[in-house]
This record gives sequence, C-alpha cells and structure tokens, in this order.
Amino acid sequence: MPDAARIGRRSTWGKVLRLGLCLSLAGAGVVSAGDAPGRSAAELMDVVMWNREPIGGPFSLIDHTGKPRRDTDFRGKLMLVYFGYTLCPDVCPTDLQQIGLALEQLGAQAKEVAPIFITLDPERDTRELLSNYVPSFHAQLVGLTGSADAIREAARAYKVYYAKVPVAGWSRYTVDHSSFIYLMGRDGKYLGFLPPGTTAPRIAATLKPYLGVPRR
Ligand code: NI
Repeated sequence: MPDAARIGRRSTWGKVLRLGLCLSLAGAGVVSAGDAPGRSAAELMDVVMWNREPIGGPFSLIDHTGKPRRDTDFRGKLMLVYFGYTLCPDVCPTDLQQIGLALEQLGAQAKEVAPIFITLDPERDTRELLSNYVPSFHAQLVGLTGSADAIREAARAYKVYYAKVPVAGWSRYTVDHSSFIYLMGRDGKYLGFLPPGTTAPRIAATLKPYLGVPRR
C-alpha cells in the first residue's frame, strides 16, 4: 500500500476512535456487522459527520414498559436518540448519565424532550432488563428494544455502526458501536448530533434554543 493511502487510512481510524465509537478492548475479531454488509464503522462515521445522507426515519419497537412505540409517537417533542446496550461498561452509561443530568438542568422544559435509548443488543436487552436500566438515568428516558430486524432497521436509518465482538467469560460478546447522541426536531427531522463524551451542560445548551418555541 502506498504511504499516502496508509496514512489516510490511519488518520480516518484515528478520527473514528476519537469521535464516535464505543469500542470493546477485547481485540477479538468481529463476527457480525449490524448494518448492511459492506458499511464499515469509518464509512458510517463519515456519513454522520459530514451529513452525507439523511439521518433518522421510522422505527417500530417496544418500550421498557411493554408498549409498542413508533417514531411518530414522539412528534411535538425534541427527540434525543442514543443507541447502545446495557452491558456496555463505560461509554453508554456515561453518556446516558449526562443526558439525564442535562434534563434535570432544563427543569420544567425537560418535558419538551423525549430522551430515547435504543438497544443494539436485543438478544440480551429484554423489556424487563431495560425496565431496570433506564429509570436509573432519568424518569423520562424511554428504553426501546425489538426484534433483531427491527433494531437493524432503526440503526440503519440513523447510520449507526454496530458489531458483536466475542469475548471470553460469561458475557460471551460485547457490542462495538458508534455512540452519537442524535437530536431530532419536533417534526422528527434530524437537527444534528453530539459526540460521545458530551457533558450535561453542553447537551442542555444545545437543546435550549429549541425549547419554549411553539410547534410550527
Ligand atoms: Ni456503549
């Protein structure tokens, strides 16, 4: 491989690692990609960061209380959409905690926001498990799961990369995944994303201009 190409590839991966991926440190081979074959983490990261393709779209999933939920159920609210899985050791819980804190900082205006956590591990993240997990971050947080196909469709719409990575031990696998926080408008249209590691004050400040504004 020519040097330039090699450097280009390395810098793309550097960007991916810094900005968007919740990676296991297992170092084991990836066994299955969540998205359509051929779409790598770097490609999907590029799509999101440079707004190359539409982001968001319909989903039809089950919430942590057992209620079927569609994207259209949240119209009129600002959706904060986050994809992850409950066994994620650090990035997911950290980001969800910051989302919860941001909503607390917004006070009564938090009612205008629908924070949504969509699992990328539907095999293990059952409704029951989510019902124990999401309330610890914020009372408004909605946990969504569904069939592997339904999750794949939602992830595809949001250009989310995810892949199972086998590990030794009881958990059998971890899930590498991109972990952007997507901000969707009251009409369901994509407004932008916040990178992993965004602090609660920054999340609150990003939401603020959209709050208290009547729906057009
Ligand atoms: Ni994670």
